[in-house]
Amino acid sequence: VDEAIAAAMERALAVAATARRRTAPNPWVGCTIVDRGLIVGEGATEVPGGRHAEIVALSEAADQARGATAVVTLEPCAHHGRTAPCADALIDAGVTTVVVALEDPDSNVTGQGIARLRDAGIEVHVGLGADLAAEQLAPYLHHRRTGRAYCVAKSALSIDGRSAATDGSSQWITGELARADAHGVRADSQAIVVGAGTAIADQPALTVRDVAPVPREPPLRVLLDARGRVQPKHPLFDAALGPITVITTDAVDPVTADAWLTAGAKVESVPAAPGGIDLAATLALLGNEGVLQACFEGGATVHGALLEADLVDRWVIYVGAALLGADGRPAFTGPGPASIDDAPRLRLVDVCRLGDDVRLDYAPGGR
Ligand SMILES: NC(=O)c1ccc[n+]([C@@H]2O[C@H](COP(=O)([O-])OP(=O)(O)OC[C@H]3O[C@@H](n4cnc5c(N)ncnc54)[C@H](OP(=O)(O)O)[C@@H]3O)[C@@H](O)[C@H]2O)c1
Repeated sequence: VDEAIAAAMERALAVAATARRRTAPNPWVGCTIVDRGLIVGEGATEVPGGRHAEIVALSEAADQARGATAVVTLEPCAHHGRTAPCADALIDAGVTTVVVALEDPDSNVTGQGIARLRDAGIEVHVGLGADLAAEQLAPYLHHRRTGRAYCVAKSALSIDGRSAATDGSSQWITGELARADAHGVRADSQAIVVGAGTAIADQPALTVRDVAPVPREPPLRVLLDARGRVQPKHPLFDAALGPITVITTDAVDPVTADAWLTAGAKVESVPAAPGGIDLAATLALLGNEGVLQACFEGGATVHGALLEADLVDRWVIYVGAALLGADGRPAFTGPGPASIDDAPRLRLVDVCRLGDDVRLDYAPGGR
């Protein structure tokens, strides 16, 4: 590959990253326009209804787009959504080559953008930067392929793998740097989810604090409460802090469900499952509401159920420099494998030191 084109893809990926918190439910895409080895235009997806990356980059390149190469992290769209098709804009601008990292699995696109460009006589290359783009866009790609929100399970554990002390207290296992970093994970999510046990034990507000850039909309705060244990005087029901959705089942106490509604919450019912709520149905419901990434913040019972149902797409584990001992609460409930040969294996995707703590990112499917 031409070095200038490889650098232009790197730049497109970097520009795409700046749009991460503003585009959902659309993908965050980056585009650069390269003319004789030089980047003459670049852009990232704007807020929904705004311009796509290609349009921003083309407008910056203006006349220099004619005869140039467009480098884009995701296949240009070919359908009329809220905006006109980007494939048409690239054709009209007179680019002669388009380099695309990834095909778009969205049912409105799937190869049609690339086909449209090729039909117009444009040379199209697919695959440069594909691995990086797939990692960057993982929540979006998962959402379009499955209809479900991408499930991030985040927890803070002691060195000896405990999620809370003997008395149930867990604030705080990690230090300030790790906690600030965790707000970034929240900001990258469109929903933050906790189980009833955590809601009651920790009284969390589930807001995003002190992040830059600030997400376009505060993430939806989601409570999983199958029976109606959490009362509406809980801080989650403070409407000033952002929207709240309670996901429950038909087994809910109707008086509490009415009180949730009166307090301004959205209340959704999904099928029951062992442990409480059907978590696959929960992820589908959130996906349906345009949540690309849902960040599950515990506790051990909900994480154990996610693990058991094999629903976690990304584990974010902060290991705090603390020891909680054998009577501390486990990281996950559930019996676990009888033998080491049967242990679920994960793949380490990233590791980061945060003061005395460490952040570990894992994906399913290790050795
Ligand atoms: N270290 C950390 O990162 C961290 C994070 C969060 C919490 N914590 C600690 O963890 C403790 C609370 O955890 P926990 O395990 O007791 O509670 P939890 O996992 O937050 O909540 C469990 C409850 O969620 C509800 N639920 C609904 N659907 C479920 C499903 N499919 N599977 C499992 N649960 C479902 C159930 O209550 P209903 O039947 O009433 O719906 C269940 O009892 C506290 O000590 C807290 O401090 C630590």
